[in-house]
Amino acid sequence: MKKILFAASECVPFIKTGGLADVVGSLPKYFDKDEFDVRVILPKYQCMKEEWKSRLEYITNFYMPYNGRDRYVGLLTCQMDGVTVYFIDNEEYFSGPAPYTDALYDIEKFGYFSKAVLSALPVLDFRPDIVHCHDWQTGLIPVYLKDSFAGGDFFRGIKSIMTIHNLKFQGMWDVPTIQRFSGLSDYYFTPDKLEMFKAASYLKGGLVYADKITTVSRTYAEEIKYPFFGEKLDGLLRAREHDLVGIVNGIDYDVFDPADDPLIVRNFTRSNFRTEKKKNKTALQKQLGLTQDPHKFMIGVVSRLTDQKGFDLIQRVFEEIATEDVQFVALGTGEYRYEEMFRYYAGKYPDRVSANICYSEELSHRVYAACDAFLMPSLFEPCGLSQLMSLRYGTLPIVRETGGLKDTVQPYDEYHHTGTGFSFANYNAHEMLFTIQYAKRVFYDHKADWNHMVDRAMVADFSWNHSARLYEDLYRSL
Ligand code: ADP
Ligand code: GLC
Repeated sequence: MKKILFAASECVPFIKTGGLADVVGSLPKYFDKDEFDVRVILPKYQCMKEEWKSRLEYITNFYMPYNGRDRYVGLLTCQMDGVTVYFIDNEEYFSGPAPYTDALYDIEKFGYFSKAVLSALPVLDFRPDIVHCHDWQTGLIPVYLKDSFAGGDFFRGIKSIMTIHNLKFQGMWDVPTIQRFSGLSDYYFTPDKLEMFKAASYLKGGLVYADKITTVSRTYAEEIKYPFFGEKLDGLLRAREHDLVGIVNGIDYDVFDPADDPLIVRNFTRSNFRTEKKKNKTALQKQLGLTQDPHKFMIGVVSRLTDQKGFDLIQRVFEEIATEDVQFVALGTGEYRYEEMFRYYAGKYPDRVSANICYSEELSHRVYAACDAFLMPSLFEPCGLSQLMSLRYGTLPIVRETGGLKDTVQPYDEYHHTGTGFSFANYNAHEMLFTIQYAKRVFYDHKADWNHMVDRAMVADFSWNHSARLYEDLYRSL
């Protein structure tokens, strides 16, 4: 039996700010249980819902030196659909209103978390063969496995994998600060190790010291070897390209299932979406105060409102997108200027634009189920899960051809009757607009073609069945 430990900063159903949580919370369930014992370790955040906090069972505690003091490390556990999940408890570090708060304090607390994860293993009597680290918050773990935790029988031979969900976030600060938090010697602070351009980052440490590197789509794995997407780490990624693989994300098909989703108004399948999906649209129109009309072309967005997701393109041409024959439903939080943009247009066109500046699991499912098209014109997108959720609910994605969007959405070809959505190549507002207008024409004027595309979108398989096998191969190869 190969033992794997996922170390991450978020995981559904406990805590989520983005797609990382969806991946960490669903992938472990899909491994072959006869061959792999996959467990997860997370921080225990004060801001987790009471419903989940109350299920955690206390195991034990110990003290660990970190950043000049002995720090409390509490250990708790619970089961998540047959997967063992451990939690690291420290109220000083994890009591903020959200998982991430102040950038510098985040770097301090996830340095603590990474050290605590390894320190906890002998206490838990769980010796993984591989620690699978996710994003910068766990970047020090591969370094520690080759450094302070390298000695002794327990840790000897433990391998590590570093998965990049988003290269933009690196856990970077000046060298003295990173050195103080990590406790690593001067040896590690050279440009071939943690240092970069006079600063240093946890993620770089993970990328230098992990035995393998993965990222969440094949296209992104290629893109990050170039300066535009590489976030100043493209040189390192080129140097390690033989250890770098792209494995596209899946989604949890038990949770995102239009036939059986308790959060949506009307369940539907491939065979009855023509009549039933619309009922979700009219229900959402009613809920959000839009004109009730099952025939209106409805475009949805569910997203963090940041530059990564292409909102400057949407802002540029929003008047032309939100014409009389379109309804636009936005759900998201993030940068103030984008929140304000959607509020402004919802005020201007209350019958056809709905701005929901909040985080809501329930509303997100309703948007995926109700809309005709889903807009995701990202500047870069390591994988993207929202477009996969849309496909599953027969809501056709309109995306820019980058990263995982390129790998998962097949553009419509009206001559060969193929495709599961619409896409455009250049990061240009008018190219996006023309693509939206083309989609709208197909929707209104070629309904049979549109419906065949919905059918293809709904059968496209982005469950974990395929990608979990690729991770299993990777685990076996180590
Ligand atoms: P990223 O991780 O870059 O934010 P992904 O597409 O991988 O993008 O994942 C985003 C996840 O967060 C999806 O599950 C999406 O439904 C969810 N999400 C984003 N914003 C909201 C929101 N305001 N309310 C509910 N869910 C949201
Ligand atoms: C990051 C990326 C997103 C990806 C998610 C899960 O948040 O921005 O593209 O889907 O991680 O891997």
